[in-house]
Amino acid sequence: MASEIAGVTRVIAVASGKGGVGKSTTAMNLAVALGLKGLNVGLLDADIYGPSQPRMLGVKDAKPESDGQWIEPVISQGIKLMSMGFLVDEATPTVWRGPMVQSALMQMLRQVKWGTEKKPLDVLVLDMPPGTGDTQLTITQNVALAGAVIVSTPQDIALIDARKGLEMFKKVNVPVLGVVENMSVFCCPNCGHEAPIFGAHGARAMADELGYDVLAEVPLDMQVREMTDSGRPLVIAAPDSKAAAVYRALADKVWDKITAPSEVGSVKIVIE
Ligand SMILES: Nc1ncnc2c1ncn2[C@@H]1O[C@H](COP(=O)(O)OP(=O)(O)OP(=O)(O)O)[C@@H](O)[C@H]1O
Ligand SMILES: [Mg+2]
Repeated sequence: MASEIAGVTRVIAVASGKGGVGKSTTAMNLAVALGLKGLNVGLLDADIYGPSQPRMLGVKDAKPESDGQWIEPVISQGIKLMSMGFLVDEATPTVWRGPMVQSALMQMLRQVKWGTEKKPLDVLVLDMPPGTGDTQLTITQNVALAGAVIVSTPQDIALIDARKGLEMFKKVNVPVLGVVENMSVFCCPNCGHEAPIFGAHGARAMADELGYDVLAEVPLDMQVREMTDSGRPLVIAAPDSKAAAVYRALADKVWDKITAPSEVGSVKIVIE
């Protein structure tokens, strides 16, 4: 299956119509967990206005090298990373119009040495920005996606936007691999009591209604927040935690789905 990006075999997108639901956290832990399976993995932070992966992977001060033609991705936690965050200061806002975003995205997709002909990336994970705007359109028009993972928190207000994200991929014929319910249940670190702060199983109900799989239910876990925000992926820093096991199972499911030839094909989208 060709992704049509040099040196990349498959591309998947982690997305949601909604902001702040944990797309980047999920994309990062999924990518690192795929790497732990022994796969050659890349992560592209497609959020041009709000890149978060350099911080989440503990490499916020790294600078990718370039020979003027190709850009070397930054390697961290066993995976290859490219992000706008390497090119602009963390505190400096990127004030760009749509076409500039499109050209930066294309450069990060096509001019980065993700893999070689001999050793291509097995999978490139795209951490998508919120919404269904310029970036989503650019990606779906230019990349043959093997599938999309939709992230949502359980409450109705998030599900409305998650559903929009899902419908967008469906509309452009990208296979939706399934839904991740994030911040599913809060487990008190002191007494172990489980509280469904954002409601219970809302994403599962949506997935069931629309006929998609629930790929994972990630708990609302203080360790996830602390480690993600301090640049230590949970799947490596706390491999025995419940959430790490959930992310590993998610990686297994996603990998099975994108390598099952009957279920998912490679599609090229052209929107006029
Ligand atoms: N399961 C979880 N438990 C606890 N905290 C979480 C969990 N998932 C994400 N977070 C925290 O929630 C915040 C938002 O997560 P993240 O940046 O991944 O969301 P996002 O959907 O990518 O946001 P944006 O739309 O701005 O790109 C982060 O501080 C992250 O550490
Ligand atoms: Mg994000």
